[in-house]
Amino acid sequence: MTHPIIEDLTSRHTVKKYDASRKVAQADLDVLFEAMRLSASSINSQPWKFIVIESDAAKQRLNKTFATMHEYNKKHVFDSSQVILFAHNPKYTRDDYAKVVDKGIEDKRTPIENRDAAFGVYLFAELNTGEDGDTSTWTKAQTYLALGNTLHVLARLKIDSTPMEGIDITLVNEEFSQELEGYQCDVAIAIGYHHPEDDFNAKLPKSRLALRDVLVRI
Ligand SMILES: Cc1cc2nc3c(=O)[nH]c(=O)nc-3n(C[C@H](O)[C@H](O)[C@H](O)COP(=O)(O)O)c2cc1C
Repeated sequence: MTHPIIEDLTSRHTVKKYDASRKVAQADLDVLFEAMRLSASSINSQPWKFIVIESDAAKQRLNKTFATMHEYNKKHVFDSSQVILFAHNPKYTRDDYAKVVDKGIEDKRTPIENRDAAFGVYLFAELNTGEDGDTSTWTKAQTYLALGNTLHVLARLKIDSTPMEGIDITLVNEEFSQELEGYQCDVAIAIGYHHPEDDFNAKLPKSRLALRDVLVRI
């Protein structure tokens, strides 16, 4: 099949070794960050925070978190251009949704007289809130949507990447607790350009289950 979308998705791959001499241009980062901001989420909740690790000092801090686990991803810390932590709000509240509603008014999407009515859909959040105020399952799912969007945008920009659940989430959340402000990071993504010789995954053919195994038309 020939189509630009299919070309994006077949040409991207998970990088196993980066070319440390190549970094992502600011103009591409601007597009990427804006695309991340535009990600869709249930009731437009946007229960996420993205921490971009790019300074040497921040990379040193991230490097420390690979002390005991997931050593295979450690080399990406310095070889990649940026590592972005994807974090979700584990206790999303009505006050968090009020920020979304008020931004909708500011953006002229919601007339001010409809402010109270705009909270009607907050029911979705309530249905996904545990006794103790835990919204993790729901907010984490939204954050993975942003991750998926990010993967495709990176492919479009011809920037390589490595989504990483292979991070020590205890150490990452401790190390970056100040920046995370109570949000929980369970997944990160390294971005940059793959090493021309040493990235074995760049040379492998794409492999996915057959469409008939994953899609049912009724
Ligand atoms: C949420 C998520 C977490 C992943 N974690 C890792 C990881 O920690 N390290 C790694 O090398 N690849 C990781 N991967 C990459 C997958 O193994 C990869 O996407 C899959 O095998 C398909 O290969 P492709 O991305 O090259 O098409 C992850 C992918 C996703 C979507």
